Amino acid sequence: MKMKGRVIALSALMATSFMMTSAMASDKTEPRNDVYKDKYKQQFESWHATSESTEIVDVLEEDPNLVVLWAGYGFAKDYNKARGHHYAVTDVRNTLRTGAPTGPDDGPMPMACWSCKSPDVPRMIEEQGEDGYFKGKWAKGGPEIVNTIGCSDCHVKGSPKLRISRPYVDRALEAIDKPFDKASRKDKQSMVCGQCHVEYYFEKTADRKGYVKFPWDNGTTVEEMEVYYDAINFADWTHAISKTPMLKAQHPGYETWMLGMHGKNNVSCTDCHMPRVAKANGKGKFTDHKVGNPFDRFDETCATCHEGKTKEFMMEVTHENQKSVTEIKLRAETQLVHAHFEAGAAWDAGATEAEMKPILTDIRHSQWRWDFATASHGVAAHAPAEALRILGGAVDKAADARIKLAQLLAAKGVKMPIAIPDISTKAKAQKALGMDMDKMNADKQKFLKDLVPQWDAEAKKREATY
Ligand code: HEC
Ligand code: HEC
Ligand code: HEC
Ligand code: HEC
Repeated sequence: MKMKGRVIALSALMATSFMMTSAMASDKTEPRNDVYKDKYKQQFESWHATSESTEIVDVLEEDPNLVVLWAGYGFAKDYNKARGHHYAVTDVRNTLRTGAPTGPDDGPMPMACWSCKSPDVPRMIEEQGEDGYFKGKWAKGGPEIVNTIGCSDCHVKGSPKLRISRPYVDRALEAIDKPFDKASRKDKQSMVCGQCHVEYYFEKTADRKGYVKFPWDNGTTVEEMEVYYDAINFADWTHAISKTPMLKAQHPGYETWMLGMHGKNNVSCTDCHMPRVAKANGKGKFTDHKVGNPFDRFDETCATCHEGKTKEFMMEVTHENQKSVTEIKLRAETQLVHAHFEAGAAWDAGATEAEMKPILTDIRHSQWRWDFATASHGVAAHAPAEALRILGGAVDKAADARIKLAQLLAAKGVKMPIAIPDISTKAKAQKALGMDMDKMNADKQKFLKDLVPQWDAEAKKREATY
């Protein structure tokens, strides 16, 4: 693709300078989705219909354990379930995790937090290089990143051809010997989703500070990524209660899908989430771009392969898998919540770094597994056996930590059990951790009222020059 672009540019150079400009401009990312609303009507309209998935589910409200598990980290402030692609930019602005910056250099998050939200990301990387894009605080990108997940995230400009739009994804696919250019059509259909629905982290080395990287150098299983992170001594944050150097799993959906029955049979993400459907005029088919729940289009998804099975039956099978995964997930959480508080009590009783190290390693590895399984959204549908295997490991390692903690606390003369504060609701759990939610919410509202309209106005001015 790059080669072709150069050849075009070169021949244009030999023609007129006007032609050269237009040929070179033609490769650049078009971030605006509306541009394609007439040329690719069905695709555009079905893409736009992701806006129908409006529901906001507050996961912390649903399961206040999470506030404790993420104590000291942004996710303890605010965490909602994923909804339609249409809301990616809105939701990253609204979440308390991105704070309430007052200007381009204000914190708390880095630029990398925009990376899976918009085709303005590849546009900026083209214009400024990765160095320019990743440098600085999240608020720097406010006036730049305004178009939600769309055509140019997955497609070559103005074309049905699929592409990888971020250089760090190309590098990750190279690292696992699956370069995009050599991939089959089926593989590409999943790889475009794997640009975002994956595990990633923000690098901390001086020359690549804040760059997005997928930790795939040793492989893509939960254990292989753990080895990677441990070897570079990486931690996303230090846990507020247990002082554990923690890993936050992102959403390794692509990695866990590969290990499930469908991934192994190369049933792609699009087979279930973007099926080919009949055009309204009955003439041929197109790809339904309303990425959402596959059961909403059962006849074009599951039923194309699972002949003779009813929708009710297939939903029930999925539902049972979801129930099993949730059951073990909650068991892991209970163990981990106790482990964090017991470790806190051990520190209070004067435990040393050396005494705590093996315990904190167990907690780190346990919660990494729990998070990896639960943050792989859809994992109970994609790879239930792998989810249960990983969660089993989480329970096991939390138990290891708690045995060591019981011995250590006994040696320090601390009476067991260690009391847990009231964490029965999100609000109570946040209060127990001393979080000032009223202030965070007020600051957020001010940010949305004052700064965001300025961002939108600036972006509008810039786009008027395209
Ligand atoms: C999340 C990734 C993604 C986004 C976003 C996306 N597409 Fe697609 N698009 C695909 C995939 C996957 C296919 C199917 C490719 C295949 O058949 O191998 C496809 C196919 C197409 C095709 C080929 C015809 C067809 O229907 O199969 C067109 C045209 C197209 N998309 C246009 C668009 C337009 C216009 C937008 C923005 C409004 C858009 N796409 C957004 C992934 C995406
Ligand atoms: C550019 C990054 C990006 C790409 C590419 C991408 N996604 Fe997403 N996806 C997201 C984000 C971010 C969200 C959450 C949006 C929100 O909640 O605001 C999301 C949400 C979803 C949801 C939840 C939708 C709902 O209504 O609840 C599904 C399902 C999904 N994506 C599947 C896919 C599939 C399948 C592909 C490939 C065809 C894909 N995504 C490609 C970033 C991406
Ligand atoms: C065999 C069909 C199938 C394949 C293949 C598949 N999915 Fe799913 N996916 C589902 C089902 C079913 C659900 C659960 C829907 C529900 O909760 O009822 C789901 C859920 C999800 C969710 C969570 C949505 C939410 O709001 O909770 C995301 C995100 C997702 N899938 C992304 C992907 C990605 C990315 C791929 C490819 C790497 C993929 N899926 C491959 C069937 C599939
Ligand atoms: C493109 C074909 C295809 C589509 C679409 C598809 N499947 Fe499958 N499914 C398979 C294949 C292949 C297997 C492997 C076992 C087999 O050969 O029957 C499988 C296996 C399964 C299994 C058994 C899994 C296991 O671990 O043994 C379940 C459950 C299942 N599919 C549910 C679904 C659901 C629900 C959907 C729709 C959301 C769906 N499938 C869509 C091809 C497909």
